[in-house]
Amino acid sequence: MTLSELRAVILAAWFTGIHFTLAEEGLFYTAAVYEHQVLLNPEPKVVVGRKAALQHMDRNLEVFEKQATSAARQGAQILVFPEDAIHGFNFSRVSIAPYLETVPDPGAVTWSPCADPDRFQNTQAAYLNILHHLTELQVFSQVLHRLSCMAQKNRLFLVANMPDCQPCNRSLNPLCPADGHYQFNTNVVFSDNGTIVARYHKQNLYFEAAFDTPPTCEYVTFTTPFAGRFGVFTCFDILFREPVVTLVKDMGIRQLVYPTAWMNQLPLLAAVQFQRSFSYSAGVTLLAANIRSAAMGMTGSGIFTPWDALYHHDTEAETGKLLVLRVPVLDPLLLGDAPERASLKLVPFSGFPKVNITEKTEFNAFQRGLYSGFCLKEDSSCNIQSTPFTSTMMYDKFTLVPLHGKEGNLTACDGSFCCHLLFQKTNSSPEEEIYALGAFDGLHVVHGTYYLEVCAVVRCTGLHQESCGGETEHAHTLMDFHLHAAFSTEHVFAGVLGSGMTLDRPDKSGWKNGRFYMSRRGMSSGLVTAVLYGRVYERDSE
Ligand SMILES: *[C@@H]1O[C@H](CO)[C@@H](O)[C@H](O)[C@H]1NC(C)=O
Ligand SMILES: *[C@@H]1O[C@H](CO)[C@@H](O)[C@H](O)[C@H]1NC(C)=O
Ligand SMILES: *[C@@H]1O[C@H](CO)[C@@H](O)[C@H](O)[C@H]1NC(C)=O
Ligand SMILES: *[C@@H]1O[C@H](CO)[C@@H](O)[C@H](O)[C@H]1NC(C)=O
Ligand SMILES: *[C@@H]1O[C@H](CO)[C@@H](O)[C@H](O)[C@H]1NC(C)=O
Repeated sequence: MTLSELRAVILAAWFTGIHFTLAEEGLFYTAAVYEHQVLLNPEPKVVVGRKAALQHMDRNLEVFEKQATSAARQGAQILVFPEDAIHGFNFSRVSIAPYLETVPDPGAVTWSPCADPDRFQNTQAAYLNILHHLTELQVFSQVLHRLSCMAQKNRLFLVANMPDCQPCNRSLNPLCPADGHYQFNTNVVFSDNGTIVARYHKQNLYFEAAFDTPPTCEYVTFTTPFAGRFGVFTCFDILFREPVVTLVKDMGIRQLVYPTAWMNQLPLLAAVQFQRSFSYSAGVTLLAANIRSAAMGMTGSGIFTPWDALYHHDTEAETGKLLVLRVPVLDPLLLGDAPERASLKLVPFSGFPKVNITEKTEFNAFQRGLYSGFCLKEDSSCNIQSTPFTSTMMYDKFTLVPLHGKEGNLTACDGSFCCHLLFQKTNSSPEEEIYALGAFDGLHVVHGTYYLEVCAVVRCTGLHQESCGGETEHAHTLMDFHLHAAFSTEHVFAGVLGSGMTLDRPDKSGWKNGRFYMSRRGMSSGLVTAVLYGRVYERDSE
């Protein structure tokens, strides 16, 4: 078994009971995501002709074609490709121009580029006259055509990300850019007959000079015959309210396709780590496809249901990875009112207070009440507080307290925001592994601006307090814990990361007396991070 195979961890279905019930109902579908090692344009700031741009994109699309065929052979009904995976990144507004195509609004026109490739050529030529930098433009929907044929040929829904050009008129629309068109970072969804069924323009750009923010936020969904509705969003959007929280909470969307190009950052925001937390906490299925790029520190894709996951994180191999998994349908409109499916209807951000754990799982719930088992022995040191210190974690100044001894009851406060931890180490952990409980309440301002309330138990990377908050993937210390805080937001993303990028999950979480808690016992891998990541969207503009 190679390293990359080892790391493509299949988590045993935690809640087998649910799967058995569902199997009888037949409400399953097969999803696929492809982590693509994108072939980059070595000089993305240099303006090239359309022909060169197409040659570049074709090299990535050739890989897509092979993977689409492979996914279809494995029964996939929907396949998601990553953000920027066809064209690459680091373009300027001008240098991306030859990569642009115009994706028509599927709400206004029904179009299969594969079946009818020439339909929009004249209008596009007119649009593109305004792009002064284009000289060799002939046909302007080659990428759409190729993707559409890929969907049709393989009879699957296909989600891809590409740059979209939308003309606008400055005298009618003051938001229209000076060069008379918008350039959007765009997800396009094709049905299994090649028809464009959805188009989403990324709302929360991550320092992307080539692209415009759409004039209004787009809430985009599409409907499949096999699983009902899916919502669409992209990369950095995952940290913001719009559009995704509105899709999930207000529009009842429980399945999301998520092309991304995410740079990993431990201890809190590695790609698969946050994808896992998001799916679990929002109570949704997330089909996440990331780029593989060693230079940019990008890897981490997966198929996540609130209960289980198939994921891939590999910082060593210079290859792509196709993941295919059969997952339960979660669209409430399809589930109907059948009582046996009630357990699949989750309330977003409410936690999992009443998990029905079958005897077969290795999951140990807190069966004897929330706190039982911690600090039970006559150890007066258990409730002794240690001295707080500060350290920088993910560019934010956390207030931390060290975890001393085998067990303890600790509080770390940043101002009036306090995190409470009960822990018990269950193996004889190596001396050199030190841990701390950290609290942060404030506006994060580096690489994006967003307000956070965070409680995190982290394995420090060294022996000194300043090393708490640094990046490590490894730990040997096994720990049972219960973590809680009085968050001012209901949007709390709970995550448990084990050694070697093993994704774990709380065995319980939820709201109790105005506090959000999570607990976990009996992990089989060392604890790297346990985090309650609260996003206070309302305070982002402070
Ligand atoms: C838990 O699951 C078992 C087996 O699937 C079932 O018999 C039982 O009724 C369930 N309990 C609850 C409270 O849902
Ligand atoms: C993209 O740009 C950033 C910042 O300008 C740079 O650090 C990075 O190396 C570039 N990456 C590629 C793949 O060109
Ligand atoms: C923009 O709109 C104005 C007013 O309707 C019109 O006169 C002009 O021709 C339009 N410009 C373009 C480039 O379509
Ligand atoms: C193609 O797929 C779409 C979306 O599933 C559907 O609405 C349409 O009827 C299909 N068209 C044909 C010709 O089968
Ligand atoms: C932990 O400490 C808090 C106060 O600091 C106390 O209320 C609680 O009872 C303690 N829990 C245990 C299990 O010792």
